Amino acid sequence: MTISLMKLPYESDALAPHISAETLSFHYGKHHQAYVDKTNAAIEGTDLADAALEKIVQAAADKGNAGLFNNAAQVWNHGFYWHSLSPQKTSPSESLSTAIDDVFGSLDKLKEALKDEAVGHFASGWAWLVVDGGKLKVISTHDAGTALTEGVNPLVTIDVWEHAYYLDTQNARPKYVENVLDNLINWQFASDNFDRGTPWTYPA
Ligand SMILES: [Fe+2]
Repeated sequence: MTISLMKLPYESDALAPHISAETLSFHYGKHHQAYVDKTNAAIEGTDLADAALEKIVQAAADKGNAGLFNNAAQVWNHGFYWHSLSPQKTSPSESLSTAIDDVFGSLDKLKEALKDEAVGHFASGWAWLVVDGGKLKVISTHDAGTALTEGVNPLVTIDVWEHAYYLDTQNARPKYVENVLDNLINWQFASDNFDRGTPWTYPA
């Protein structure tokens, strides 16, 4: 068994004009594909050759195998990111809404916190809404760093690597983050993750 490039949950032009088909063709078709290919090359012939992606990511983190971790975590992060976006307008479930109001005051305040984290994160990385010890929290991870190995339940993420937005908004990361938060965040996915209470798994 090898790790596969998961199917996008929408057509490649479905997120336009906020994220263009051209961006997706590179981001999904080239970057995500390359992380998949490099992960498969790294696990071939090892005791992780048949393992689930989550196990590969954790094992690479535990062993300090940066080469494998960077690629495997990026496969998982991108799969999670594609699901964190939706061309349809979505809204949080009642239970997630209540938790958001309790911690942030309102959905708009949560969006502001996510925007601050995503825009303020230095260089490449990911901004996340997670459940940490039963409480919602906004965090970011550097480079290939993933919430998956942080002992939290990730609900949604925003990719803030330049490859996520450079073709659409060039250096204007704030514009990209606003586009995502105002138009594309999949609150249904966040709610499913919140209500299930355990981390999402990458499609086999
Ligand atoms: Fe990316």
